[in-house]
Amino acid sequence: MINKVEKEITRLIDECGYDEVTRLFKMLSGGKRLRAKLILKIAPEHKQAPLLASIVELIHAASLLHDDVIDEAQTRRGVTSVNATDGSKTAVMLGDVLYSKAFTELVGFDADVARTIASSVTSLSKGEMMDVKMAETFNTDEKKYLDMLYLKTATLIEASAIASAYLAGKDVQKYATYGRNLGLSFQIIDDILDITQDEKTLGKPALNDFAEGKCTLPYIYLYNELDDKDKERLKSLHLKKLDDEESLWIKKKMQEFKTVEKSFELAKKLSNEAMLAVKDDAELIAILETMIKRSY
Ligand code: FPP
Ligand code: MG
Repeated sequence: MINKVEKEITRLIDECGYDEVTRLFKMLSGGKRLRAKLILKIAPEHKQAPLLASIVELIHAASLLHDDVIDEAQTRRGVTSVNATDGSKTAVMLGDVLYSKAFTELVGFDADVARTIASSVTSLSKGEMMDVKMAETFNTDEKKYLDMLYLKTATLIEASAIASAYLAGKDVQKYATYGRNLGLSFQIIDDILDITQDEKTLGKPALNDFAEGKCTLPYIYLYNELDDKDKERLKSLHLKKLDDEESLWIKKKMQEFKTVEKSFELAKKLSNEAMLAVKDDAELIAILETMIKRSY
């Protein structure tokens, strides 16, 4: 089934009718195709499911192209980012082609499906704006952080689950709960991996989030545990390229206060809530388990 999505994506890209788009798109790594797999599992019988899955993957790819420009990232999923190889202008324009093509295709779907996906793109764009804004200062507000994560990452996953439930005539609320919690849990684990994994495994520099200004959950929990002197030290390392000693200090303090474990506990709690929503669906539970296992 996922091969059908890959073929559909290639068809949509070819339909854009510009060989430069085809060339650049081929250079991207496809990634895990989490959103596509979710749609295929929720609406396996529906003939529009592979197209919907392709649309969502194009939107996701566009958002990552733009995100890499915003973050000035050099690598994405282990390969050199388009902004690094061909420049930021090209990366932005390729993103524009991908998501406008996705929206053109979305027009052919029922209004409920189209509105769900389209409005989630407004949410993820708002989430990205909040992420950038929050990174300018040292944010230690957990709720504010989780609200931003919901918009930036969970909303497109939630929308994929809702839209495919509409397609399949299934209980929309149940799949919305699943998608939202899967999305939140997924991003928290992503944030953990930035701390626990090395550059080679990550396909991007380690401890990069904090250097980019992103105060993710393990940092927020750490800040709240530290004494005043160490709070100041942590604050002084924010938005800075860390040397080995500084990185080690952060990691040691995180171990001392078990802030990665605490973040992981929240990811597990959210993932359990997702599991409860779909407790009769082994395949959707398997997606959650694979995601949780990514972490250590
Ligand atoms: C990655 O986050 C970024 C996102 C999940 C969303 C980005 C959204 C936009 C740029 C809005 C524009 C949308 C479109 C459709 C053009 P991250 O930087 O935390 O993760 P990373 O480490 O994978 O870069
Ligand atoms: Mg980024």
